[in-house]
Amino acid sequence: MRRRFGAVQAVAGVDLELVPGEIHALVGENGAGKSTLAAIAYGAVRADEGSVEANGVVGLVHQHFKLIDRLRVWENVLLNREPRRGWQIDVAAARERVRRLGATYGLEVDPDAIVETLPVGIKQRVELLRELDREPAVLLLDEPTAALAPGEIASFFATVQGLAARGTAILVVTHKLAEVIAYSQRVTVMRAGTVVARHLTAQTSAEQIAREMVGGDVPALATRAAVTPRPLLALRDVSAASGTSVLERATFEVGAGEIVGIAGIEGNGQSALADALAGVVRFSGDAAFDGAPLEPGDTPAQRLARGIRVIPQDRRHEALILDWSVRDNVALGRQRSLPLRAFGDAAREVIAAYDVRPPNPDAVAGALSGGNQQKVVVGRALASAPKLVVAYQPTRGVDVGAAALLQSRLIEARNAGAGVLLISFELDEIFACADRVLVIAGGRFVGAFARAEIDRGRIGALMAGGAA
Ligand SMILES: Nc1ncnc2c1ncn2[C@@H]1O[C@H](COP(=O)(O)OP(=O)(O)O)[C@@H](O)[C@H]1O
Ligand SMILES: [Mg+2]
Repeated sequence: MRRRFGAVQAVAGVDLELVPGEIHALVGENGAGKSTLAAIAYGAVRADEGSVEANGVVGLVHQHFKLIDRLRVWENVLLNREPRRGWQIDVAAARERVRRLGATYGLEVDPDAIVETLPVGIKQRVELLRELDREPAVLLLDEPTAALAPGEIASFFATVQGLAARGTAILVVTHKLAEVIAYSQRVTVMRAGTVVARHLTAQTSAEQIAREMVGGDVPALATRAAVTPRPLLALRDVSAASGTSVLERATFEVGAGEIVGIAGIEGNGQSALADALAGVVRFSGDAAFDGAPLEPGDTPAQRLARGIRVIPQDRRHEALILDWSVRDNVALGRQRSLPLRAFGDAAREVIAAYDVRPPNPDAVAGALSGGNQQKVVVGRALASAPKLVVAYQPTRGVDVGAAALLQSRLIEARNAGAGVLLISFELDEIFACADRVLVIAGGRFVGAFARAEIDRGRIGALMAGGAA
């Protein structure tokens, strides 16, 4: 199988065989070609060369849900396949069909619920039911657990195992190696469009797969120095809203010299928190920073002037000016303090410290890969001795090697005395970096754990809105 997009050979000569009854994991770093391969197998993308053979229908569940939010569950599940009576849709039969389908696969959902009112885990069920209604012989799942809490992940895989037991051939695309080890029987590792390894899962390990994904050793994280945090940021009953994101009465502190991790599923108030601290939205409640009040209506420039640096979630829209050079992007926000002639040196420092490729200050930011763009964003935030760093998904969509580098730089900033608020949807990232973990669910802080007390199960339950 081969497929090229412009200059990128997304898939370069891949053979893959899926067997009925087996869960086959497809792993690889961002951009390895996994989604392209799945889309070719499904028939949504045409291969330049090669062919797909399947004994039956092929189903695909996308990482990003393709549901129509305003419609009901049954309307989504049965879209274009609605049971009819004469020329009319037989709504009673449609409801019943969705109910029966749910009961068969252990995916109970109210057929009449409007999709947009449902939590992510239930939307995932709807997405799956839609494919299952077509009775696929082959089911492709592209990063199916990316938006699920740990408890939801376990029940999702219980369903998938049930499908395999009925004889469905299953492909799970994921970058979470714990899932590969726990649930797959076979694993294929892709790198840069080709298969670099195939294993029976029982005969390999997460460490080996990680090395194969990266093409070498995964760099170790920076060592955490013994630092006694001193007070830096204190919020009391801080509420804010940014778009649909709502933060309610947050009370917590971040000390200078510590990383506080905010664990939560996407969409639980994290954006409101980040934007309130960045000065993008106003907040209510009390906040103090570095010995003085933090004014609720400060502009981002005022926050910057006080030593608060934000690594925004969305590097392309919130962090970089894509048609500017790396040099000008590194200087962005520091134009007043940094003389024009120092722009080049500042950029070269970031390029060297973060291994930005190409190592050229004149390169246009938009032409860099996502990982290299992120290095520029993180490098800029940490370059000017920040007091507080708000790191929102700092390694989103970044390969394992670059992620380790960025996490190490955050730990070094902490060692040097910065306070770091690490907002991440990846629990592993939080556990690797944070000195303390706070859990956010439904816009509220619902749990706090010191590093030594970190308990994945309890944190997962709190994230999903349950009790600890
Ligand atoms: N529609 C597209 N147009 C241009 N490039 C694409 C398209 N889809 C994927 N690519 C490129 O192909 C490569 C493989 O992408 P993808 O299959 O999405 O990887 P993965 O799912 O492993 O992260 C990447 O370099 C990506 O940017
Ligand atoms: Mg993908």
